[in-house]
Amino acid sequence: MTRETWKTQVGFILAAVGSAVGLGNVWRFPWMTANNGGSAFLLLYLCIIVLVGVPGLLGAFVIGRRSKRNPVGALRSLSGGSRLWGAFGLLAVCTTVLLVSFYTVVGGWFVRYTAASVTGGYFAQPGAYFGSVSYGLPAFGFALIFLAATAAIVYGGVERGIERATKVMMPAIVVLLVALIAWTFTRPGSMEGLTFFLSPDLAYLRTHFLDILPAAVGQAMFTLSVGTGTMITYASYLGEERSLPFDATTIAVLNTAVGVLAGLLVFPLLFSFGLDVGSGGPGAIFVSVASAFSTLGLVGRALGAVFFAVVLLAALSSSISMLEIPVAYLVDERDVSRGRATGIMTGIVVVGAAICALDASVFSLFADTLVNLLMPTGLAGFLLFVGWVLGKNALSEYEAGAGPLGRALGSPWLLFVGVPIPIFLLFTVISRLLTTLGVSVAPLSVLGVTVASSTAVLAAAVVLTAIAVLGLRRPDSVF
Ligand code: PFF
Repeated sequence: MTRETWKTQVGFILAAVGSAVGLGNVWRFPWMTANNGGSAFLLLYLCIIVLVGVPGLLGAFVIGRRSKRNPVGALRSLSGGSRLWGAFGLLAVCTTVLLVSFYTVVGGWFVRYTAASVTGGYFAQPGAYFGSVSYGLPAFGFALIFLAATAAIVYGGVERGIERATKVMMPAIVVLLVALIAWTFTRPGSMEGLTFFLSPDLAYLRTHFLDILPAAVGQAMFTLSVGTGTMITYASYLGEERSLPFDATTIAVLNTAVGVLAGLLVFPLLFSFGLDVGSGGPGAIFVSVASAFSTLGLVGRALGAVFFAVVLLAALSSSISMLEIPVAYLVDERDVSRGRATGIMTGIVVVGAAICALDASVFSLFADTLVNLLMPTGLAGFLLFVGWVLGKNALSEYEAGAGPLGRALGSPWLLFVGVPIPIFLLFTVISRLLTTLGVSVAPLSVLGVTVASSTAVLAAAVVLTAIAVLGLRRPDSVF
């Protein structure tokens, strides 16, 4: 059987943008920005998108297009049958199951808000409504509606649907966001929100750098869908004629634009309605736009329904890109039929969603802590693989279809993904792990020299990377 490829030239870009643009931009980005210092977070996040996100996306594309397989098969076959790499691919597949579990709960919130816009359900108390509907049995019920839609599309085969959905969703979401932002700017107090979001607060960044770094890295990975195998799988249907550097840059730019627009809407709204920015948590987007719609009467109802429905479309094109990964794994590697595979995985996600819908702290464990730990770990592994297992083969895959500028950047890219990015990612993962476990690393004294705790963590990341590199090196490796 010949492997499917994207039917149209733009099919891949549309699907990848569909996967990237979703609740990560509209819902998670304002939440993370609000909780991590506003503009300081934005600045750090943008740097990470450019320096880690785009090279990371390219790494995933190279693995996918070279292997023409799902993440497990890709790492196993490209490494010459290594079981260990197969297991690492499986970890990435499991990560998507975990992500889609909480994503389904958030998708359910959007279903509920779409319906509540039509009925005016949140109009009386737009601030308090989120708290009353976000967790518990009803939240789980709405999550099931979202999951059913995701599973139906995955079952039916994703291709055509995603292409069409993304073509409608992208322009619609941009037009809606821009229109709402323009309205928001006419409201008193909105400029304070703009300052919170945009005016660079370097002092805050300096003093809180290590606190906000893991969140910024996790958000960059989440929003670009890297570190899980989604982008590997999508690129596996790709022909040699596409320029990977061009595609990766386009996806990152479009995706970042939607996130920034969401921030330009949410923060001015929160400030102009006098809502507390930090305490909004995962409800920031809901509380802010619901407050706006509730002042607009019937127009607000219509606008609210359209807004939440468009975001739902964006959410679906992302959630199917998550559920598709474990389904494709069962179909390709375990010889399970597509119908059965979709059934099994949906069943597992039902359980995951039930757990995530329990209460706010369980939800945060999945949507915040685990994302910030697992996605950078996944990407670090993929990039070590690219630099040291694929090595020169990665470069020739990268170069196929690339223009002169893209090709000129090939060697620096390979070096960058082979050493500094894994060290950086491991550094953030170790720091986050230590804070999560409540372990504080005291300054160490080595041969009479006192080493700050962050230096010790950095040293651990360097040593881990060095061990990985020495273990993985082969004749094809970059050095
Ligand atoms: N990038 C998606 C979003 O921003 O909503 C979420 C996502 C999709 C993460 C697919 C990971 C993934 F594999």
